[in-house]
Amino acid sequence: MQLLDAAKSFLNGRIKEDDTLVDFTMGNGHDTAYLCSLVPKGTVYAFDIQREALENTSKLLSDMGYGNATLIQDSHANIAKYVKSFKCGMFNLGYRPGGDKSVTTMTESTLKAVTDGISLMEKGGVLVVSVYPGHEEGTREGEALYRLLSSYDKIYYSVIQYRMINSPTSPFIFAIEKYDK
Ligand SMILES: C[S@@+](CC[C@H](N)C(=O)[O-])C[C@H]1O[C@@H](n2cnc3c(N)ncnc32)[C@H](O)[C@@H]1O
Repeated sequence: MQLLDAAKSFLNGRIKEDDTLVDFTMGNGHDTAYLCSLVPKGTVYAFDIQREALENTSKLLSDMGYGNATLIQDSHANIAKYVKSFKCGMFNLGYRPGGDKSVTTMTESTLKAVTDGISLMEKGGVLVVSVYPGHEEGTREGEALYRLLSSYDKIYYSVIQYRMINSPTSPFIFAIEKYDK
């Protein structure tokens, strides 16, 4: 199974058409467009620090006829300034395909965004984080996220790691579910 298909599969069956969703790493907008398709009567908040990401995503959404996204040029670490609560969210860490490879997600801001995202997520929601350990900062992010997410109380959360154990540098996923209780 492709990583992106696996990431999407964690969201299956949880989302209602009027829910609020978050794309924490907008990039060229493919995940934002996918999330928009899931909530035709809801809203998708999408974050990126690069102006090109907002330009590319805005064009993609307009070409696809989606008008239900709010695009924010700011770090996902500042999510609490913009979003009160949301049902499900996605992170696709690393650098923008076709863009400047030196502009990549960084461990410290990723940890803040994931921590705040889990706090703001509604019960019954899932946060999916795709990690790319094939580069140095990606390895650091994966290890730091593993330490952080291992500490969440199993009474309230399930945290799944989905990865190819025979290919340690391949991308992998963390999926955090906040139980509905
Ligand atoms: C792998 S790309 C995302 C791909 C995207 N989901 C798509 O469908 O094209 C990662 C993105 O995260 C962005 N990014 C890096 N640091 C960020 C931060 N602190 N807050 C929000 N986005 C950030 C990068 O600019 C890059 O566009």
